[in-house]
Amino acid sequence: MKTSIIQGNILHRLILACVLLSAMVQAQSHDSLIHNALDFAEYQLGQTVIEINDSTQFPRSTLSDGSWGTRSSSSWTSGFFPGCLWYLYEHTSNHMWKSWARSWTAGVEPEQYNTGTHDVGFMIYCSAGNGYRLTGDEHYRAVILRAAQSLTTRYNPTVGCIRSWDNRTFPVIIDNMMNLELLFWASKNGGDTTWYDMAVSHALRTMEDHVRADGSTYQIVDYNPVSGAIIQKETSQGYQTESTWARGQSWGLYGFTMTYRETGDDCFLNTAKKLADYVIDHLPGDNVPYWDYEAPEIPSEEKDASAAAIAASGLLELCALVPEDSLEVKYRNAAESILGSLVSDSYLAEGSISHGILLHGVGNHNKGTEVDVSLIYADYYFIEALLRYEALASPNLALEGEKYPMPTSLEIYQNYPNPFNPVTTIPYRIDAGAVVAFSVYSLAGQRVYYFKTGYQRAGNHRFLFDGGMLASGTYLVNLQAGSNSRTLKMTLLR
Ligand code: GLY
Repeated sequence: MKTSIIQGNILHRLILACVLLSAMVQAQSHDSLIHNALDFAEYQLGQTVIEINDSTQFPRSTLSDGSWGTRSSSSWTSGFFPGCLWYLYEHTSNHMWKSWARSWTAGVEPEQYNTGTHDVGFMIYCSAGNGYRLTGDEHYRAVILRAAQSLTTRYNPTVGCIRSWDNRTFPVIIDNMMNLELLFWASKNGGDTTWYDMAVSHALRTMEDHVRADGSTYQIVDYNPVSGAIIQKETSQGYQTESTWARGQSWGLYGFTMTYRETGDDCFLNTAKKLADYVIDHLPGDNVPYWDYEAPEIPSEEKDASAAAIAASGLLELCALVPEDSLEVKYRNAAESILGSLVSDSYLAEGSISHGILLHGVGNHNKGTEVDVSLIYADYYFIEALLRYEALASPNLALEGEKYPMPTSLEIYQNYPNPFNPVTTIPYRIDAGAVVAFSVYSLAGQRVYYFKTGYQRAGNHRFLFDGGMLASGTYLVNLQAGSNSRTLKMTLLR
């Protein structure tokens, strides 16, 4: 039977309305689960503050009675608890979280001098890094710069990498990608510019040696520090050398995405996509990976919620960076599916004995330690992912084909010095999440500088103007966020 055009039109509209309605209902129920998870995170972390009550002790993983086992600041995990507290300050604007975050950040600060591990990046960037981002307190900048300097003492120019651990000969682990963020940030915020080169060199070598053709990863590559040659590839926390340790894969996905954000080099974007595609193609039905993608007894093996949370957060950054709309949707949907599982009863610790936020994390399966527990780093990346998701989520605007919720205002605060020098910080504010583009034009209208941020949440940000090779003179500095644009006339003085 032929349908008339009018009937067809009505039918088409009805179907469209049903699809939109079901998308909105799904988005709404998703949103309420996300809000519930954040409310629960607030409750659990508040309880944890009371439980620990000592800012030199840091929750790491839960014990058999559900309470937190703690470590001193020298544990690789010490930065995550203050990091969680900073995220809740960001989420709630409640000064109680800020004051707790400050206390536990102060507890981690001795580690800025730690030259014995690459994990100084996790320790200091998750704590003082978030502290600086949210308060602009110069004390935190100094701590971060000192920590970055400590990390660079582990760099070997022949290998072109930072040494991860002090065992073996010169081991570099995939996890180390995460600690490059400290160097990238520090090199742009008053540190040495060679720190940027070290981070790029490390990422390039890791891309060559740790990433397999199918986008999976090795955990460890051990190098000869004199010749720079590979001695052997290994695993510590994975099932076997040639298998893929789930959390390591997530560290790589997140780390290469961040490295692309910091460098704009397509080779890192392509690597991040390869790693993300591997994860998406190998996730089990509930979207939370087993502790190793090739663990021998799947499906009776333990899941690792930390690998899921790190991957979800990385995918939420990646989806905002890929230029192709189809990939943006793919990575965002994948992150949403993972988060959908993590906020459900199966993984959220609500109603369980655990004092953590997420259940079912695996620290080290091979050693039989921290298996099927709550892990503070799972909670940290889970909260980060929830906040990234919240900032991105705007189903109505998405239906109109917008990439992000469109900021309705973009303000540049006028408290930068003018004339400025090549390392001037320009504070600005956006009222919805966005990618912000900075362009500098000569007065003749020629663009002489361009920088695009990664996705940024609504709120206050600071752009460190890296004037690089620009000569003294007057320029027009333009900031663009969504359809909003602001231009400043600024005079550069060298
Ligand atoms: N970086 C240590 C771990 O992921 O277990």
